Amino acid sequence: MKNKRYFLLAALGFVTWVNAQDATHNHAHQHMHTADVTTTEAETAPTTESVATSTADTDNDCQVALTGDDHMKYNLKSFTVPKSCGEFTIYFENIGKLPKASMGHDVVIAKKTEAQALAMDGMSAGVENDYIPPDDARVLVKTAMVGGGEKTEVIFNTDVLEKGEDYVFFCSFPGHYFTMKGVVVVE
Ligand code: CO
Repeated sequence: MKNKRYFLLAALGFVTWVNAQDATHNHAHQHMHTADVTTTEAETAPTTESVATSTADTDNDCQVALTGDDHMKYNLKSFTVPKSCGEFTIYFENIGKLPKASMGHDVVIAKKTEAQALAMDGMSAGVENDYIPPDDARVLVKTAMVGGGEKTEVIFNTDVLEKGEDYVFFCSFPGHYFTMKGVVVVE
């Protein structure tokens, strides 16, 4: 991830340098570099929803691809976050067909000791808050809530999780907590 950021900065610097130094520079060449920058930006956008071009790389330990379905189930019961990643990405897709209003899903990470109370408190927060109390410090990480056929992603700093603490991930949609939850292993 850091390498991509450096590449983005380097690419932006190059385009600026080209524009400043060489007014007669080949237009098609400049355009090519502009396209590179746009692609890189889309891949690294921190909380962009529904990025159609983003895909999970299964060989990358610093990300996980989660799905939720119309049966109120995630595809995984646990995933591991290595502290050494610095930044970790959760790709999340609602692979069901039902809309957000009746079968919305998200991914919230909280301490195991606080998760159930957080889920219960969130039920009255409303769909406009993704059923999470606004500005609640118990929410360590969360994706947007998405309906069937929609995807989202979140990048978080691994500093928010500590080794030796027990964490869970769960869906904050009312009633989903009991079937949509799993373990986040921090190592
Ligand atoms: Co759900």
